[in-house]
Amino acid sequence: MARTAIPSENLLAATRHPLLAGGKRLRPALVLETAALFRGQDPEYVQLTLSGALAVELIHTYSLVHDDLPSMDDDDLRRGQPTVHTVYGEAMGILVGDGLQTLAFEVLLSGPGSAERRSEAALVLARAAGLCGMVGGQVLDLEGEGHTPELGRVRAIHEKKTLALLEASVEIGAVLGGATDLQREALVRYGRAVGLAFQIVDDILDETATAEELGKSPGKDRSSGKLTWPACVGLEESQKEAMRLVQEAREALNPLHTMDLDPAFLQDLSFYIVDRRL
Ligand code: IPE
Ligand code: IPE
Ligand code: MG
Ligand code: MG
Ligand code: MG
Repeated sequence: MARTAIPSENLLAATRHPLLAGGKRLRPALVLETAALFRGQDPEYVQLTLSGALAVELIHTYSLVHDDLPSMDDDDLRRGQPTVHTVYGEAMGILVGDGLQTLAFEVLLSGPGSAERRSEAALVLARAAGLCGMVGGQVLDLEGEGHTPELGRVRAIHEKKTLALLEASVEIGAVLGGATDLQREALVRYGRAVGLAFQIVDDILDETATAEELGKSPGKDRSSGKLTWPACVGLEESQKEAMRLVQEAREALNPLHTMDLDPAFLQDLSFYIVDRRL
């Protein structure tokens, strides 16, 4: 069936609002740069990999819109803009998230290039975003509020709510680019290490950065009693762990050198993940 127009001007505006506000676009960069390692193997490479990049950003943006809802983290600032629910109401916040999620799969499953690669990428994305991935992690995060910080529990939260989608972004790049199983395994190890480092740094920035730098309200984790990495081990040890994970991520890429691939961009990106102020 052909695509039809969004039936409400208000829904269109509310959907554009979080997407066009900006954001680092880290997950699409991981898809594109991972797939770019294999450039040339697929004639329809550009459209195929752009679909993957867009799909992960749509899922991520949906997760942010829902994460900010009053019943979740109750935030009113995101990507330097008022959150969707504060402008358009809570029901619209829920529905915008729902719409972004289904659009992600529409984008990934339609268009030119290998249908087999597209459907495999969609499976990776569904698993990472779903009950055993990001959604499960968001539940653990909410259930953990107010409890005594404990590293094993925080790791489980972070692995699901954040690492899962970052790992999937790298894996989707590998799938769409046409990686071998060995290449895919090495890239997934990289994605897991940067994925955990990323959420540890997010926790650190919540305690150390300003609203101007972050485009979101800092200090919320402590006031909500969230289980975070710094709440368990302090800021300095958290930074050290993030650095250690970056080293682990870089080492995971080593086998690619012997396969005639150049992961320089992914290596540099891992440094950005710990050095960022946004
Ligand atoms: C914020 O993600 C939510 C987390 C998983 C920590 P980002 O820090 O990537 O948010 P944007 O996309 O740049 O706004
Ligand atoms: C959110 O983690 C992870 C998501 C799945 C959106 P946070 O709640 O720490 O993200 P921020 O700090 O609000 O961006
Ligand atoms: Mg949250
Ligand atoms: Mg939040
Ligand atoms: Mg946070």
